[in-house]
Amino acid sequence: MSTYDLVVIGSGPAGYVCAIRAAQLGMKVAVVEKRATYGGTCLNIGCIPSKALLYASEMFEEAGHGLEKLGVKVGAPKLDLKGMMAHKDATVESNVNGVAFLFKKNKIDGIQGTGRVVSAGKVEVTPEKGDAQVLETKNIVIATGSDSARLPGIEIDEKRVVTSTGALELGKVPGKLLVIGAGVIGLELGSVWARLGAQVTVVEFLDRILPGMDGEVAKQFQRMLKKQGFTFKLGSKVTGVDASGKGALKVSVEPAKGGDAETLEADIVLVAIGRVAYTEGLGLAEAGVKLDERGRVEIDGHYKTNVDGIYAVGDVVKGPMLAHKGEDEGMAVAEIIAGQAGHVNYDAIPGVVYTAPEVASVGKTEEELKDAGIAYNVGKFPFSANGRARAMNRTEGFVKILADKTTDRVLGAHIIGPVAGELIAELTVLIEFGGSSEDLARTCHAHPTLSEAIREAALAVEKRAIHM
Ligand code: FAD
Ligand code: NAI
Repeated sequence: MSTYDLVVIGSGPAGYVCAIRAAQLGMKVAVVEKRATYGGTCLNIGCIPSKALLYASEMFEEAGHGLEKLGVKVGAPKLDLKGMMAHKDATVESNVNGVAFLFKKNKIDGIQGTGRVVSAGKVEVTPEKGDAQVLETKNIVIATGSDSARLPGIEIDEKRVVTSTGALELGKVPGKLLVIGAGVIGLELGSVWARLGAQVTVVEFLDRILPGMDGEVAKQFQRMLKKQGFTFKLGSKVTGVDASGKGALKVSVEPAKGGDAETLEADIVLVAIGRVAYTEGLGLAEAGVKLDERGRVEIDGHYKTNVDGIYAVGDVVKGPMLAHKGEDEGMAVAEIIAGQAGHVNYDAIPGVVYTAPEVASVGKTEEELKDAGIAYNVGKFPFSANGRARAMNRTEGFVKILADKTTDRVLGAHIIGPVAGELIAELTVLIEFGGSSEDLARTCHAHPTLSEAIREAALAVEKRAIHM
C-alpha cells in the first residue's frame, strides 16, 4: 500500500494545480485520473480545444471578410476542416503532455484509474485493466469537475444531438445548427460553426443572452451576433428533438411561458444549458461526505468537507465553473493543508467569452450593484474613439467601469471589444488591490494601445475623458 501526504482525485485545472502547489510545499502527492490524459475537461474537451477552433475559425473569417478592408487581397479562402481539427488536436496534445511533464518535474505520482473515497485517509483506484489498489493518505482533495447538463427526453448521441464535446469534433460544417442555451458554450461554439458557414439559431429560455453578465453588454453583444448571422429565439424552450428520420432533425420549440409550439429543422442540435458537478462513482455517500442541494460537494470557507481530511475544489464545488477559479482554489487548498493561509478573492475572478468581439468582465454588474443598493458612478468609453482600434479596424464595443459613488473604489468592469479577455487583466489587478478609478485615470498608458480605452473609461467616471 502506497502512503501519501495528499491524494488528489481528478487532474483538471483545479486538481493538477493543487498537486503541483502541494509538491512545491514539500508534500508527497499522487493524482488519480480516470481519463487517458491529464488536464481534465479544460485541456481535453473544453477551454483549450474550443479556443483552438475559435482562433482558427476567426482567421478563416478574417481572410474571407476582414483582410480586404485592410488592402490585403487573398481571394476566397478554402476551408480545410480536417486541417483545422488537426490544429485543435495538436494543441490539446501539447497541453496535456505539458501537465504530464510538470508531474514528473514535481515528483508527483500520476495514477491512471477511477478513484473512490473509501474513507478519510483511503482512496481506492480501479484501473481500466488490472487490479484495484488502495492509496493511504493524510489528505484527500476531490477535484472531479463537472459534466454537461442533459435535457430530459432529449437523447445525446454526440453525432447529431451533441454536447460541447461532440460540437468540437463535427466531421463537416452543418447547414443548420440549433443551439439550446445562449450561455458561454452556445455562443462560443455557435460562433465557430457560424464562421465556417452554418446557419445558427439559438434557443434560450430566458429573455436575454449570457445571464450573469452585465445587461447592457449582453444587449449590445446580441446585436453584434445578429449582424454576424445568428438568429435568436429568446424566452423559448425546446421540448423535444425528433431524430427518427434520416433527414433533418425536427426540433419542437415553445414559448417559455407557454403557447403555440413550432417545429424547426436542424442538422445538428447542440445542448448547452449548463454543467453539473460530477461525483459519480466517488463513493461519497458511503464515506459520509455531504453534497449540497445542487449535488455539489459541500465545503466550508477553507474547502473542507464535513469529513476531516477530505477537501474539494473546482467545478465540483459552488462558484463559477471556470478553469482559473479552480486553479486558484487548488493552490489555496494546498496552502491550507500545509498550514498556510491560502485564500481566493471571489470578487476578482474575471470571466471571458472568447467570441469576436470578446466579452470580458470582473467584479459586479450594474444589476448586482442595484440589487445590493450600492450607489455607483459609471465611466464608459467606446473603441470607436480609440486610435489603435481604428488602425486595426476593430472599433466595435466599449469599456465600462463601475466605481463606488462615495469611495471611488472600482467594483466592476466590463469590456466588449478586441482582445477584451487580455485587457480585463489590468482591471482585475486594480480590483484585487482595492484601487479607485482615480488610480487608473492617473496611470500612464502607452499610445496607441487598446488599453487607453480603459484609462479613458476611468477618466469618464469623473466625466473627464479626453477623446470623447
Ligand atoms: P475538470 O477539468 O472537469 O477535471 C476533472 C477531472 O476529474 C477529469 O479529468 C475527470 O476525468 C476526472 N475524474 C472525475 N471523476 C474521477 C474519478 N472518480 N476518478 C478519477 N478521475 C476522475 N473555463 C474557462 O475558464 N475558460 C474557458 O475558456 C473555458 N472554456 C470551456 C469550454 C468548454 C467547451 C467547456 C465544456 C468548458 C469550458 N470551461 C472554460 C470550463 C472549464 O473547463 C472548467 O471550469 C474546468 O475544467 C474545471 O476544472 P476542474 O479541475 O474542476 O474539473
Ligand atoms: P451557461 O450556464 O453559461 O449557459 C446556459 C444557458 O442555457 C443559460 O443562458 C440558460 O438560461 C440556458 N438554459 C438553461 N436551460 C435551458 C432550456 N431548457 N432551454 C433553453 N435554454 C436553457 O452554460 P454553458 O454555456 O453550458 O457553459 C457551462 C459552463 O462552462 C459555464 O458555467 C461556463 O462558465 C463554462 N464555460 C466557460 C467558458 C469561458 O470561460 N469562456 C467557455 C465555455 C464554458
